[in-house]
Amino acid sequence: MREEVTSFDFSTYLALAKDRVELALDASLGPEQPEKLREAMRYSLLAGGKRLRPILCLAACELTGGDSEKAIPTAVAIEMIHTMSLIHDDLPAMDNDDLRRGSPTNHKVYGDAIAILAGDALLTRAFEMVSLRTKGVSAERLLRVVGELSLVSGAPGLVGGQVVDLECEGKDVDLNTLEYIHIHKTGALLKASVICGAIIGGANDELLEALRIYAKSIGLAFQIIDDILDVTSSSEVLGKTAGKDLIADKTTYPKLLGLEKSRDRANELVQRAKKVLNPWKENASPLLSLADFIISRDR
Ligand code: FPP
Ligand code: MG
Repeated sequence: MREEVTSFDFSTYLALAKDRVELALDASLGPEQPEKLREAMRYSLLAGGKRLRPILCLAACELTGGDSEKAIPTAVAIEMIHTMSLIHDDLPAMDNDDLRRGSPTNHKVYGDAIAILAGDALLTRAFEMVSLRTKGVSAERLLRVVGELSLVSGAPGLVGGQVVDLECEGKDVDLNTLEYIHIHKTGALLKASVICGAIIGGANDELLEALRIYAKSIGLAFQIIDDILDVTSSSEVLGKTAGKDLIADKTTYPKLLGLEKSRDRANELVQRAKKVLNPWKENASPLLSLADFIISRDR
C-alpha cells in the first residue's frame, strides 16, 4: 500500500505559531506600575514554555475558517491564566517548588506576596485581553469566551481541581478521583483553549461538540503524560522538579496503572480525539498533529 503523503509540515507550523504567541505575550504587558509587579508578571509570562494552550486556541480558530489574528488576545489571556496558576501552584502553601520553566519560581525571586499579586494581576489582565483588547469580534462571541474562561478558572475548573489535588496528597485515591483532578486542574483550561478559539472563529454547534470531545480527550492525555514524565524524565529536561509527585505522595496514573497501561490510556485518548475530527479532517492537520505532539513530547 502506498504511504499517504501529507504536505503539512508540523514542526514549521509549531515554530511559527510559537513565535507569534511569544510576540503577542511580550506586547501584552505594557508599562505597568509599580515596576516590581510588572517585572514579576513578565518574569513568569515570558519564561518560555511550550505555549500549547494558545497554539491550540489559534489552531481551533483556523479550523473554523476564522481569522486567527482575532483570537490572539484570547490566546494570550489563556497563557496568562495558565501562568498565574503555575505561580500560585509553586507557592510554599501549595507545591512549594523552586524550579519552573528552567528558572527559579516566581516567589523565589520576588517573594510570596508579590508572586501572589503578580498571579492575581495576570488573571485579571486575561479578562481585560478578551473584553477590551480584542478587535473585530462580536460582543456576543466575546461574552461567550469570557463565560468559558470564568468557568474553567474558578471552582468548576482549575481552582476546584487544585483543591481536590491538595486534599488528596498522602491519601489513597481511586481512578475516578484522579480523573476528576486531572480533568479540572489541567484538562479544563486545555479544553477552553480549543473552545474559545472555535467560538471566536464562529464554529457551529456540531463542530463545537466535536471539539469538546477532542479537547477533553487530549486534556486528559496531556496530564497522563505529565505524570509519566514526572517519573521517567529529569529536572534538566523538564525545567521543573522531576520526581515531585512521589515526594509529595501524590496519586498519579503510573502509580495506579503502571507506566505501560498509562501510556496505552493516553494513546487511546489521542486516537479518540483524532477520530472525532474526521468529518473536518481536510482542515484539521494542526489539531491532529497537536494531539500526537501531546503524547510524543519529552517535556
Ligand atoms: C500544576 O499541577 C498546577 C495546575 C495545572 C493548576 C493549579 C491551579 C491553581 C493554583 C488555581 C489557580 C487559580 C485560578 C483562579 C486559575 P502539578 O503540580 O501537577 O504540575 P507541576 O509539576 O507542573 O507543578
Ligand atoms: Mg506543582
